[in-house]
Order: sequence, then C-alpha cells, then structure tokens
Amino acid sequence: MAWTPLTDLELGGKRVLTRVDINVPVEDGRVTDITRIDRIVPTVKHILAAGGTPILLAHFGRPKGKVVPEMSLQPLVPALEDAFGTGVVFVADCRGPSAEAAVGALSSGQVLLCENTRFHAGEEKNDADLAAEMAKLGDIYCNDAFSAAHRAHASTEALARLLPNCAGKLMEAELTALEAALGTPKRPVMAVVGGAKVSTKLDLLGNLVEKVDALVIGGGMANTFLAAQGLDVGKSLAEHDMTDTAKEIAAKAASTGCELLLPRDVVVAREFAANAPHEVVTAEDCPADAMILDAGPDAVAHIKQVIDRSATLIWNGPLGAFELTPFDAATNAAAAYAAEKTAAGDLISVAGGGDTVAALNQAGAAEHFTYISTAGGAFLEWMEGKTLPGVAALG
Ligand code: 3PG
Repeated sequence: MAWTPLTDLELGGKRVLTRVDINVPVEDGRVTDITRIDRIVPTVKHILAAGGTPILLAHFGRPKGKVVPEMSLQPLVPALEDAFGTGVVFVADCRGPSAEAAVGALSSGQVLLCENTRFHAGEEKNDADLAAEMAKLGDIYCNDAFSAAHRAHASTEALARLLPNCAGKLMEAELTALEAALGTPKRPVMAVVGGAKVSTKLDLLGNLVEKVDALVIGGGMANTFLAAQGLDVGKSLAEHDMTDTAKEIAAKAASTGCELLLPRDVVVAREFAANAPHEVVTAEDCPADAMILDAGPDAVAHIKQVIDRSATLIWNGPLGAFELTPFDAATNAAAAYAAEKTAAGDLISVAGGGDTVAALNQAGAAEHFTYISTAGGAFLEWMEGKTLPGVAALG
C-alpha cells in the first residue's frame, strides 16, 4: 500500500481538496440514483469532524472542454446537502479568482462544490497549469474517486503530485476490497464475466485466466466461445470474427489450469423480447432459427458447484439478457446463491462494472455481496490488471 489513508492525516484547519465521482444519473434536474453520493459521505463527514474544510472537485458527463450548461454540477447541490446534512456552497469554476474567493468565504462546517472540472480543456489533457491553479484551492489533496481513477486527468493525476495527498475512505474501501479479491485472494478464486462482446473484454479475460481458478463466461460472450468450439449458435448474438481469439483464451486457460465454464445448456427463443416463447436445449442443440438468451438450469447448477468450492468470487456482467424476463433467471439464481453463501460466511464476493450492479440489485443479491464497487470502466481496467493513473499518483 503506497498511499496514505485520509484518516492518517491531521486535518484541523486544513482545506482538503477532495476529488469525488458524483457522475450520477439525473432526469429532469433530479438525481435518480444517489449511490455514488452516499458512498462519499464518510469522507466528507470525516473531514468536517476533524475540523477540515471539504472542497469538492468532480466531473459530470463528457462536455469535452466546453461549458455545457446541462452538465453543470449545480443541480446536485440539494442531493449533496441531504446526504452530508450540512450546507453546500456552489462555485461556478474549479479554478481562478471566483473559486479562490469562494474558498476564502466558506464558514466552518460548510462544504464547497466546484463546477465540472471537464468544462476546462486542460482537465482531460492532464494539464499541469490547470492542476497548479486547482492546487491553490487546498492544503491537502484527497482522492475519493476510484471510479474515475482510470483517467489520467488534471484533477485525478497531475493535481495529486502537487499537494500532500491521501486516499479518501471510499477509495480506501475500493482498493482494499479489490486487492482482497484479485491481488492476494483467499483461494480458490472464481470469476463470472458476462456481457455482450468478447472484443470489449479481451484484456480482462486474458488477465483473469492467469489469476483465477475458475472462469464462468456468460452472456453474448459465451455464444462466441461456443461457436469457437464448432457449435451452431443459430441466430444468437456472437462475434464470429472473434472465434480464433476465443480459442486462444481457452488454450491459455488450459495451460494455466483455469477451469473455463461455458453453459452446458441454454435458453433459446425466436425473438428478443420479454416473455418470448422459449425452451431449454443443450448447448449443442441451438436451433438454426433461434437465439440463445440465457444460460440454462444445468449451467446454473454447474456454477453453483463451483461457488461451493470457491472462497472468493469476482463478478462482472450478467449471464443472459437480464433486462428481459424470464431471461434474467440464470443471473438471478447464480447471484442469489452467491449472496446466500456470502451471508453464511463461506464466500468473499466482489462485484462491479457497468450493468453488473443493476443486475445484482434486480436479483436482490447486491446487499449481501461482500463489496459492490461504484466503478464502471475503472473496475474493468483494474480487472484487466492495469495500473490506474489516479491510484498510481497517490503516495
Ligand atoms: C464513470 O461514470 O464510470 C466515471 O465517472 C468515469 O466517467 P467517464 O467514463 O466519462 O470518464
């Protein structure tokens, strides 16, 4: 652990420039999912309780270096005040005289929220001058945005090098949970990787087969692996130009002793629609005019057996078309089983990335997992074994 936890620093009277990720879904000006806001509360409250002043830096959307009023952070102020239980002052810049004046005018116990860092072109360029201007706003830099740590931006990377820095409580929780799951896991360790395309998860699959004892492949990706075995997958979503790559990953798994689990049976339908007429067939028997929309009950039983003999589970992506009932059945059943084993103390379970949290919430399993990451792209890059620039810059 090269980084310093926030809780190790003396914060009394200090302006703590805190990078957070509050890139939350907003509809009609209202926040529709406050998970990311809830998860930064411990850091903000810790700074306040220690007598420091939290000055929040964050991005919102992808304005690409321009001021885009619809991507202002100002509408988030009420949700932040509710979550922190204190006043949040908003300032319409993250640098320069207005931001410096706003910092100077803050009263004790207040939080300052600075406008979207990505309104400045220098943010995504990791610009040293922008970072130097932001550094004037604080005495200490705290990064609590693991989910933005895969970006080498001015507020996540260059800035960390200009001030005494530390990892916020959410960053610490994410790094600790992820290290426990893949860095130095309790073995045997298994991974579930689902999702549509092998092509988007190549590096991830390549890294995992070297690190885990069993790898369950689900979703559209599994169809590509079945096709690589010479099976007819009918009209299923599959990347037929990726079958050689799938064969290479399967060969690598065989050489590293990683058990690769593809569905032994599948649920097929003739249309991609909720409640479409469907049937269960073995993976060898997908009809030419049908598409695979979920793993079958035998495949789920197989996954449960592997869960039974695993000590650690990492989950990314659904096993089937989970947004369409009943093709969410395999994801729900396997997730519920992992949750049950976790609750019984038999499994360490960590999940994250894109659709995963939505799928586990829908399965009613998320609350029993050991740790659910708030990160999408950063979780995937971490699973790929990459160094995250925002983490590397700490310490
Ligand atoms: C996310 O939503 O995953 C993070 O906020 C990063 O956003 P980005 O993909 O626009 O960098």
